[in-house]
Amino acid sequence: MMKMAVVGAGIVGLTTGAGFADLGHSVHCVDIDTGKIAQLSRGVVPYHEPGLEALITRNASSGRLTFGHDSSKLLQEADLVFLSVGTPSCDTGEMSLAALWSAIDQMEAWPESESGNRKIIAIKSTVPIGTAERAETRLRSRLPEHCLVEVVSIPEFMREGTAVRDFFEPSRMVIGSASAETGERLKQLHQRLPGPIMVTDRRSAELAKLAANASLAVKISFANEIAALAEQTGADYPAVAHSLGLDPRIGPHFLAAGLGFGGSCLPKDARALVRIADEAGAPQTLVEAAVRANAMLPLRMVRKLEAALSDPSRRRVALLGLAFKPGTDDMREAPSLRLVAELNRRHPGITLTAYDPEANHTARKALPSAVTICESAEEALRGADAAILVTEWREFRQIKADDFKNWMNRPIIMDGRNALDAAALNAQGVVCIGVGRLPVV
Ligand code: UGA
Repeated sequence: MMKMAVVGAGIVGLTTGAGFADLGHSVHCVDIDTGKIAQLSRGVVPYHEPGLEALITRNASSGRLTFGHDSSKLLQEADLVFLSVGTPSCDTGEMSLAALWSAIDQMEAWPESESGNRKIIAIKSTVPIGTAERAETRLRSRLPEHCLVEVVSIPEFMREGTAVRDFFEPSRMVIGSASAETGERLKQLHQRLPGPIMVTDRRSAELAKLAANASLAVKISFANEIAALAEQTGADYPAVAHSLGLDPRIGPHFLAAGLGFGGSCLPKDARALVRIADEAGAPQTLVEAAVRANAMLPLRMVRKLEAALSDPSRRRVALLGLAFKPGTDDMREAPSLRLVAELNRRHPGITLTAYDPEANHTARKALPSAVTICESAEEALRGADAAILVTEWREFRQIKADDFKNWMNRPIIMDGRNALDAAALNAQGVVCIGVGRLPVV
């Protein structure tokens, strides 16, 4: 069993830390956010992430998982340190590595190891290609010679909303290491988890992560462009997507058309890849186009609303769902933000109400105060002239046609995620307009 430390108590860091503690390792999680650490020490998880609180509580009470904000001592003691700090977008689209360098620079020297083992610093954050090498050079230039250290890249592929499941059932584990010996050590560590383990070099591991998110972004934008074509030509996109998904070479995932991709990863990583590739002289025109296409989707939705509802400036429109996807309270780069901005820009007098089952508290900080955040779908829909389904939470599927008709001023639903049974609703007198489908008149 290893002594581990995790720097950065975001969803990835916490899930990784609690997951390894559950496998029997001793894990200390640090974060500079003292408020967050205080909450975690009381057993409160500051995110809506299914299963994470139970996993943390179980391992904190066994003493295998601890939290703190002073990293130096425990980092000194740990054999393996995961860095899972944020790498947010700068204005230029580049990733900011400020938190990563700060974590690296806080590492203090440790006593000479009797085993002769190197301390392993594993970068889990998504980073530009070559970052692990730079981090290792930076550490070695600061630390005394007896501090043997190797920086590896172990990118993370877990998704928000299913992070715990993804930790215990990973699609693959990619270990990027400069030395075969460290690669083997880390491979053994990960062998407790099911799923293929790949050991490769650090740069390939870093690019593998960026390429994974970029290819998901490209697939979603492709889906959205084909859906737009279906709409213009009288085809039904869900039928087209079903057919595409039956081809094993294409696969059924990430073909859902709608309001596009958001969150803290896909948009940021796709933009960063474009920047990195430009600098490297290998332009990623496909990824660039995917980012551009994605940015157009909220405006496209507003135009469709305009076709269905006269004079939106004088109307009341309800937004169902605000988080960037169901299963999370995360509003980072959520399509709802752009949608609200477009609605207000094109229709300054519009009245907006909104409801999200989990993200109301995060949305209050992210949305303009003129948007009325409601405590239920019913409250948001009451008196509305139209509704836009933005995030496909399960509870919205349970709203009956009669509820839409009774609550709303006019039952017009723009289903931005094709989540509702449009045919059934239309048959019962609700106008339900999906994405990539012909409106029923
Ligand atoms: C994404 C990747 O899926 C993870 O593998 C990766 O580890 C993670 O980023 C990361 O880099 O940390 P996540 O941001 O949790 O995970 O969200 P996704 O499930 O990928 O969804 C991203 C966005 O795409 C959402 O806004 C979702 O609504 C949208 N989406 C997804 C579609 O519009 N259509 C689809 O068919 C699928």
